[in-house]
Amino acid sequence: MIVYLNGEFLPVESAKISVLDRGFIFGDGVYEVLPVYNGHLFRLAEHLQRLENSLQAIRLANPLSRQQWSDLLTQLVAHNHGGDQSIYLQVTRGPAKREHNFPHLIQPTVFMMSEAIQAQPPSPGVKAITCPDIRWQRCDIKAVALLANVLLRQQAVDVGAVEAILIRDGYVMEGAASNVFVVIDGITMTPPKSRYILPGITRDLILEVMQANQLPYQEVAITEAQLRSAVEIWVTSSVREILPITTLDEQTVGSGKPGPIWSQVWQLYQNYKQQLRSHG
Ligand code: PDD
Repeated sequence: MIVYLNGEFLPVESAKISVLDRGFIFGDGVYEVLPVYNGHLFRLAEHLQRLENSLQAIRLANPLSRQQWSDLLTQLVAHNHGGDQSIYLQVTRGPAKREHNFPHLIQPTVFMMSEAIQAQPPSPGVKAITCPDIRWQRCDIKAVALLANVLLRQQAVDVGAVEAILIRDGYVMEGAASNVFVVIDGITMTPPKSRYILPGITRDLILEVMQANQLPYQEVAITEAQLRSAVEIWVTSSVREILPITTLDEQTVGSGKPGPIWSQVWQLYQNYKQQLRSHG
């Protein structure tokens, strides 16, 4: 695997950073994950905008221009032989003497890697659990400090589930690393954007394709009781696309199989990817 680190492309084994890097010491940095289909970057402008928003939120100047990001990402994909890939990039505040406040005159660390991914067959339905949302109040920042998310996801995996759906003050927020959709009375619903959820790029694309195809949806607060009464539940992310949840906390969701609206939206999402694969 060829990675990018601070101006250089090199094999992953040779990429080294300082142990004083504030990403390592404090989790002081932000990241993005973006898929590549047939060598084409998925929603690049949207990912770069979200990166910009995260950097602004942590008061770190963007070390690269949009054009530089775009050029480097394209080169990274080519170094790793094109095709379908998943890119991870992160920017940290860089290496400095350990002190909580921002250091002066410090070079941010820019790191990017990419690995091949396989096309995913439609899921037969998977399990999720609910957990209290133990995270902080700025979940809209795509911060590398993911300890709460890591613990929550592991709690799910420990009981054979693939995701933890997070509940804050009685309302559904999102998954440990995904957004959440439910279908109730034929209407698809997803929580509105706020500081308590990450504005998912997949979430936005799903709403866009639903609108284009006259499928009704609402961005609206969802109570825990509504979640439990939903006939369909999906979790969505760049990595997992749209996964139907057919068991929630050991209770069957709807018919126990992926629902008809999921099926429709999954197909529309595949069509979008196919278009990107063919035409960029
Ligand atoms: N995570 N919410 C959280 C907390 C996430 O971590 C993610 C994605 C999403 C979905 O965002 P998007 O559709 O832009 O992937 C929502 C990435 C994939 C990760 O941390 O690996």
